[in-house]
Amino acid sequence: MNTPVHLQSFTLKQAVIRPTLPKDTAGAMRLCSQIWGGDDYIPYVWNEWLQEHSAKMWTAELEGEVAGFIRLDSQAPHQYWLHGLRVHPKMQGMGIGRRLWDTAMAAWGSDGVIRFYTAEEQYLVRHMADLTGFSLLTKFLLMAAEPIKDQNSDFSPLQAGEGQVVLEFWNHQNRLNSHHLVDMGWEWYAPDAELIEDHFLSKKFAWGWKDQQGLLLGFWEEWEGRKGLFIAGAVCEPEYRDAFLMDCRRLAAEKHADYLGWNIPLGVISKDQAQGWGFTVFKGEDTEYLYEKTGMASE
Ligand SMILES: CC(C)(COP(=O)(O)OP(=O)(O)OC[C@H]1O[C@@H](n2cnc3c(N)ncnc32)[C@H](O)[C@@H]1OP(=O)(O)O)[C@@H](O)C(=O)NCCC(=O)NCCS
Repeated sequence: MNTPVHLQSFTLKQAVIRPTLPKDTAGAMRLCSQIWGGDDYIPYVWNEWLQEHSAKMWTAELEGEVAGFIRLDSQAPHQYWLHGLRVHPKMQGMGIGRRLWDTAMAAWGSDGVIRFYTAEEQYLVRHMADLTGFSLLTKFLLMAAEPIKDQNSDFSPLQAGEGQVVLEFWNHQNRLNSHHLVDMGWEWYAPDAELIEDHFLSKKFAWGWKDQQGLLLGFWEEWEGRKGLFIAGAVCEPEYRDAFLMDCRRLAAEKHADYLGWNIPLGVISKDQAQGWGFTVFKGEDTEYLYEKTGMASE
């Protein structure tokens, strides 16, 4: 008898995939405590996730226990973000991850584009991505630079209401980002004017550089008690990049950040270039893969 096949069919019969409910919280926390040595970020965002009704989440339940979950987000029309895929270590390798994946993909329904990222060593996830029609968009690497306090930067804050102007600038100038995509805190979206307005201008995370020579969009991220100003999107002509990046580090100092963080798109910027601007690889970080799939409706 082939035991693994028998085990898989048993699990497929027993695990129920259903929308996530608040009552899953304790089980989800137990599950996360077993992932990455208890270093999973999901416990920090779980309650927020339960309250956000723009997103959908599913739980795999096996004999009354939370066996896994997945989340499908959408922060812009026709753009979706797949994340939060977890299966309890005791129940991994039994087809539950794939069923959660397929559930989220069916809910996406080929509307616009869907994206996600994963680490280089996540062979199972990358395997599922390949099998379900995703393409690799870019690789990226989290790096950080020290703030510089020598002089004032040439950045000035952009005002609410300028979303359309900022969008035009973003779309038509030389970006330091991959494929028009802006980093909205580890989720990548092609911005429209509303997204720029809501996520950057109204939160005062958008700056112009010198006389319209550059643009910086940012966000805050706190990691192990250290506050980072992150580059979400940057626009600058190649000949001014050195000066622009040095000024980004000065802006980080002006904002009292402990560091300037950047998910460097390796197709656009090389690791050597970033090192030349004073960036070093963030502790323990590996190359990440950003994937995308376009729906039939948009083809
Ligand atoms: C990654 C993860 C979600 C996968 O879930 P899972 O339930 O273990 O995966 P499945 O059993 O559904 O297998 C998924 C695919 O990998 C294959 N697979 C599973 N175990 C495998 C193994 N040991 N070797 C080779 N392939 C394997 C399966 O055959 C399946 O492919 P198929 O659809 O072509 O048959 C799960 O391992 C996990 O939670 N890991 C820790 C958290 C994590 O890394 N999450 C992803 C962050 S991006």
